[in-house]
Amino acid sequence: MHSLTRRSILKIAAASLASPLLRNAAAATLPLPALPLLPVDRPEPGIVEAHLVAAWGEVAIAGRTARLQTYNGSFPGPVLRLREGDQVRLRFTNLLDEPTNLHLHGLHMSPAVDDPFRELDPGETALLEFAIPYGTAGTFWYHPHIHGSVAEQLFAGLAGPIIIGGPDRYVSALRRAESHLVVLKDLSLAGDSPAPHSMFDWMNGKEGDLVLVNGALQPTLSPARGPLRLRLLNASNARYYRLHVEEHPLHLIATDGGLLESPVVLDELLLAPGERAEVLVPLQGTGDFRLLDLPYDRGSGGMHGGHHGGGSASAATIPLLTISVPRELPQARIPERILHEPIENLRAATPARRFDLGGHGMGWQFTINGQSFDESRVDVRATPGSTEVWEIRNLTAMDHPFHLHIYPFQVVSRGGAPEPYSSWKDVVNVRAGEVVRIAVPFRDFRGKTVFHCHIVEHEDLGMMGVLEV
Ligand code: C2O
Ligand code: CU
Ligand code: CU
Repeated sequence: MHSLTRRSILKIAAASLASPLLRNAAAATLPLPALPLLPVDRPEPGIVEAHLVAAWGEVAIAGRTARLQTYNGSFPGPVLRLREGDQVRLRFTNLLDEPTNLHLHGLHMSPAVDDPFRELDPGETALLEFAIPYGTAGTFWYHPHIHGSVAEQLFAGLAGPIIIGGPDRYVSALRRAESHLVVLKDLSLAGDSPAPHSMFDWMNGKEGDLVLVNGALQPTLSPARGPLRLRLLNASNARYYRLHVEEHPLHLIATDGGLLESPVVLDELLLAPGERAEVLVPLQGTGDFRLLDLPYDRGSGGMHGGHHGGGSASAATIPLLTISVPRELPQARIPERILHEPIENLRAATPARRFDLGGHGMGWQFTINGQSFDESRVDVRATPGSTEVWEIRNLTAMDHPFHLHIYPFQVVSRGGAPEPYSSWKDVVNVRAGEVVRIAVPFRDFRGKTVFHCHIVEHEDLGMMGVLEV
């Protein structure tokens, strides 16, 4: 069984809060791993070919060997690096012992290519051909999307990042920042295998005891210069991260769908499952500064609130990563502007459609507008060329991160408060009892796709609907 229980992890966390010795010991031993790059071929300018393979693999996790579901043998999966304007031919092969498929989370393409309704049997290969539109540079990701098995496959390891390069290459202050990908993904093991879901995990979303950064437990980042540019991806099933760096502000420069016009200075940043953000961290002073996951109460799915093993209300502060700055380092300044053209502002639109997030605690069902997912039903028909405002109301006692495929949106308001700046998103957290409004333009690409809660257990249990444009 587990050699590290949640309780012992918390003890270690508490000890490392108290003891500078332990912090230094950790600093010396475990550098932040860089995820491997997925090899790509560029047979002609602008054409990119790559091959992803899902298969079981052996991976070193926190000093032991685990058998996980991997992409190309790596956990998390390798980084798919693309550029705006690329024409991509991505082959995907399923070498698992069960059906899976590949979803390109946040990318804007035809729903017939990024198709959550398609299943690949073991041994099958699919070819996904798509273009990366201009203006969509940012941090995205890929993971499986077969209704009913997303939660288990994601928890077993299937997730990897996508980085799309674009105008940030021309902002010299961004180019001079030291860039790191930070993939937040938790895991628990039973023996050497991913731990199975309990009843409570299905209800609340499964959280793992091992809160890993790029697959490593509490690694250390030793920068050579500042500021740091952290590309943050929450690839966890259900864990929320309330991120804070000790004694440092975070300058938010990108959300899910890409760069902001100007940095937004924050003391902390909440990253719900599926969300991405990019922050600049100017290095201030010398010493060890930890990236922390502060306590956040995302509510619980009823029944035995507070008693669910694995838990949804995280009461502890969890150290994720130590930034070690032993001496003064060269430092570029934080840019005042990032994008030279303003992001269009869709935040004034008026509501058109209502989505009620609900659930029946005892019935193991999560619903949108009272209905559980049915792939043969179309829940929303939108007109090509229109911009719709969706009002999402959370009628449950826990947060749900609402996600829409293919069509990026802007948040209009949360809990009645207007969103202070324009940014492109594809996941928005809707707190328990809250009402969130988003504006979604349907400018191109017709077809059928889905929207759902990105606590993937809830998605598997029915909190998903079908959109046809
Ligand atoms: Cu991360 Cu339906 O997606
Ligand atoms: Cu998605
Ligand atoms: Cu949910």
